[in-house]
Amino acid sequence: MRHLIDSTDLSVKETQEILNLALDIIENRTMYSHVCAGKKLATLFYEPSTRTRLSFTAAMMELGGNVLGFSDASTSSVSKGETVADTVRVVSAFADIIAMRHYKEGGPFVASQYSRIPVINAGDGGNAHPTQTLTDLLSIRRELGHLDNLTIGLCGDLKYGRTVHSLIKAMNRYEGVKFVLIAPAELRLPDHIKNLAPTKCVETATLEEALPTLDVLYMTRVQQERFANKDDYERLKDSFVLDARKMQLAKEKMIVLHPLPRVKEISPDVDSDSRAAYFRQVENGKFVRMALIYTLLHKTTETREHSESLSVTEEPCTNRRCITATEPVERLSYEDHDGKRRCAYCNHVLANS
Ligand code: CP
Repeated sequence: MRHLIDSTDLSVKETQEILNLALDIIENRTMYSHVCAGKKLATLFYEPSTRTRLSFTAAMMELGGNVLGFSDASTSSVSKGETVADTVRVVSAFADIIAMRHYKEGGPFVASQYSRIPVINAGDGGNAHPTQTLTDLLSIRRELGHLDNLTIGLCGDLKYGRTVHSLIKAMNRYEGVKFVLIAPAELRLPDHIKNLAPTKCVETATLEEALPTLDVLYMTRVQQERFANKDDYERLKDSFVLDARKMQLAKEKMIVLHPLPRVKEISPDVDSDSRAAYFRQVENGKFVRMALIYTLLHKTTETREHSESLSVTEEPCTNRRCITATEPVERLSYEDHDGKRRCAYCNHVLANS
């Protein structure tokens, strides 16, 4: 039984196999239409979603399986105070696999510690979103034909952008990849991600400066729901806007991706540009989730345990967005590249590190 909590829980080889399977599913849809017959996916969404939940649902339906779950935790016994641990213990009796989104960082990781069935992280707070990364990798591969030797611009909210964190961790493993970071000072990429690829990351102040160098531009929304202070959100929300005029600076074959939803960071006048791949990207999400569900239910994978190289600590995490702030779970930590001890649930530096 395997879980997917972080994009690097899958090796490069396993990631490649899932992308290959997704491509085969695209070519041979009917061949896969009953392969999950009799299986049930539970979608446990503690935070709003359109694409992720519906694409997981559509994916399981297209594999011949069934779906149950909740899209609003306030309609479940979570509203009575039930913990993630107890919820997944119960759901393990009703389903064969879980896709969980949680507003707290580390929520799905906690779920994986108590579940008897595979848990897929469908996005946890500002931390990670590994199935969006599989979607992004499949999109890059289908649009450009390869995942190596690419210059990828990441623009917008790089601090809370969980899709950005997961994408950098996954893409960092391919040859010749560079990251161009375009973000307001307050929303820069967290150190624990940047430290993974210090020589591959460059920061630029403007989209105009970055655009001519890029093969992929990954736009992101400034995430209102992660800000404690509304004034900060108002000040930062429109920091970078891609429009048709700026697209003239980009390579002919550059693609624009966005995990969506967008607000104003991509002007609608970009939508008709053939390089705008973000709606094609959405459909790839369904196919890659079909491949992932099939893989986790049917194949013995080499997926590494997410809890590998973690140790137990007495020290509490001070990040109020961490699942450990609200759930009575074992405190786990790990040592980062720079020797700092970090919370294993949210990657926050522990105070006495
Ligand atoms: N990309 C993504 O996670 O979209 P949703 O929030 O709509 O699921």
